[in-house]
Amino acid sequence: MAQQNWDASEYRQHAAFVALLARDLIDLLNPQPGEAILDIGCGDGRLSAEIQQLACTVTGVDSSPSMVAASKHRGIQAYLLDAHHLHAQRTIKQSSFDAVFSNAALHWLNEPEKVIQGVHAALKPQGRFVAEFGGHGNIAALLKAMKEVFDENSSFGEFRHPWYFPKPDQYQTLLKKHGFKVKSIELIPRPTPLNSGLEKWLAIFANSITGHLTAEQNKVFLAAVTDKLKAVLYTRENGWVADYVRLRFEAIKL
Ligand code: BEZ
Repeated sequence: MAQQNWDASEYRQHAAFVALLARDLIDLLNPQPGEAILDIGCGDGRLSAEIQQLACTVTGVDSSPSMVAASKHRGIQAYLLDAHHLHAQRTIKQSSFDAVFSNAALHWLNEPEKVIQGVHAALKPQGRFVAEFGGHGNIAALLKAMKEVFDENSSFGEFRHPWYFPKPDQYQTLLKKHGFKVKSIELIPRPTPLNSGLEKWLAIFANSITGHLTAEQNKVFLAAVTDKLKAVLYTRENGWVADYVRLRFEAIKL
């Protein structure tokens, strides 16, 4: 499978909904003036900057150079870092953060225990880990359609699902195992309008699945996925609406 590529400018133009829909999560984080907050998968820094405006100091980490540059441009102290390796990095000081925040990023990290251990090490005692990401059942219709199209076109190769979408009890078990008390954890179905359309969503978010296809194969892929999903995710009134399901939680370092 190809690596996922991010383009901060495309993301800003066509994926602004990711940050706009995170109001409830910021409320749950409840940032207090003077707090040090680590934002995992900070993306283009839009939410980090909002939190920083509340008189907090935000440190962002992201595995995309384009996103890190965009975050820095917004005045965020951002580092190029795969969050599987938080604890191994000197840039992330141990026991130094009041809270760790993450929106729409943890489903890209397929070794959740490493991430949770790194978050635990980065937090001060009683520090908060507040996050939201794709949970069990997330983008089920999108995944089904993409897999079917791969299965119908053997030249595309094997379909590999690149994301981690756990059930609340699975993730809660991991949080407890690694020294957290879980204050809340819930699965929230959140149908999400794709204002820039399905093809843009696929280009921005699923390029790790399609990156190895030729231009001609990609055309076939887009047409076939669109055809399969039109009756499921598209209406004339609302346009394309993705079948997102969020896993949202707040946990406290013991
Ligand atoms: C999500 O935010 O749920 C998501 C975004 C892109 C790909 C997969 C999931």
